[in-house]
Amino acid sequence: MSIQISKPFDAHLHLRRGKMAELVTPMSAAQFADVIVMPNLNPPILTVAEANSYRNYLLEIAKCNYHMAVYLTENTSIEEIDAAAKDDNIIGFKLYPLNATTGSQNGISDIKNIYPILKRMEIQKVPLLIHGEVTRPDVDIFDREKVFIEEVLTQIVTDFPKLRITLEHITSADAVEFVMSCSENVVATITAHHLLMNRNAIFTVNEKTALNPHNFCLPVAKTERDRNVLLRAAVSGNSKFFAGSDSAPHPLNCKESSCGCAGCFTGLHAVELYAKAFAELERLGNLEEFLSINGRIHYGISIPSEFINIYDTTFLIPDSIGEEKLTPFMAGQNLNWKVLEE
Ligand code: NCD
Ligand code: ZN
Repeated sequence: MSIQISKPFDAHLHLRRGKMAELVTPMSAAQFADVIVMPNLNPPILTVAEANSYRNYLLEIAKCNYHMAVYLTENTSIEEIDAAAKDDNIIGFKLYPLNATTGSQNGISDIKNIYPILKRMEIQKVPLLIHGEVTRPDVDIFDREKVFIEEVLTQIVTDFPKLRITLEHITSADAVEFVMSCSENVVATITAHHLLMNRNAIFTVNEKTALNPHNFCLPVAKTERDRNVLLRAAVSGNSKFFAGSDSAPHPLNCKESSCGCAGCFTGLHAVELYAKAFAELERLGNLEEFLSINGRIHYGISIPSEFINIYDTTFLIPDSIGEEKLTPFMAGQNLNWKVLEE
C-alpha cells in the first residue's frame, strides 16, 4: 500500500550552523518543500538581514524553500518589524521566554516589555511564533505550558485580537483546548515525538526504568491522556493544527552529559514518524491536511506541485549518524512507513 501527498511543510525546524547544518539540512530538504527555520543559534538571528544571510548559507547546503523566523528580544525595533513585513523570506518573529529552552538567553523577561512591538506586528500582519512556557521555579515543569496559557497567552490574545499567533510544539490537552477556543488567527504546531511518546519515555531505556536523555525535549512530554488529545487534534483535519517537527539536533556528548541539552532529533525521518502516528489511528487519509495543507494556508505559502510517496515497508532507524554521533529519535527501532520522492 502507498499514499501520495503534496511535498510536506515543516513549520518548526532547527538547522544550526557548521557541520551539524551540513549533516541535517539535506535530510529535511529531502522530505519537505517548505520549512520554517528557527533563529535560536549561537549567536542568534536577531535581524531581517541576519536571517537572509543565514538563509543564503542554508541554500548553499540544500535546495528548499526556507522561511526564516527572526528572534524577538526586548531590543527588537519597530523598523525591524516593518522590514520583515516587506520581506517574503521572513515568516515572522519567534518569542522565547527568557531561559525557557536551548538558546533562549536573549528571550523575553516580561511580555509587557514588548507590547509596542506586538502592536506593530498585529498592524503589519506579521506572525508571532511562541515557545509557550513559563520558567518560574515555583511552577512544576509539567505545568509550564498550562500556566503560560493562563498567565501570558490569554492576555496576548485579548490585547491583540488580530495578531496571527502560532503556539509552537504544543504538548498538553490544555493547549489543544485553548487553541480550539480562539479565533482562526491562533493556530498550533505539533511535533511527531509528542504524538509518539508520553513522559514515561524520558525515564525508559529498552523497557527498563532509566534516564533517557534522547527523549528529553522542551516543552517536556506530558501524560498519556495529553498525548491522546494531541493525536486526536492532529488527525482530526482541523485546520488549526499542523506539523512542526521541532527536530533539534545535538551532538551525542551534549545529550549524554551531566547537563544534557533539550531536543529530540527527528529530522531524518519526520514524515515517517508522523505517518506512524496517523497509521496507528487509521487516519492516514488526513495526513496531507496536517503535513502539507493547513500550515501553508495559515502562512500564505502556496502548495507545491511536487509530491512524495509513502510506502508501507519496514526499515530500521540507525543508532547514530555522522561524526557527531547524532542520535535519532527512536534509534534502533523499526518504522513501517517510508518516504520516496516522486
Ligand atoms: C530546541 C533546540 O534544541 O534548539 N530544543 C527543544 O527541546 N525543543 C529549542 C526549542 O525549540 O525549544
Ligand atoms: Zn524548537
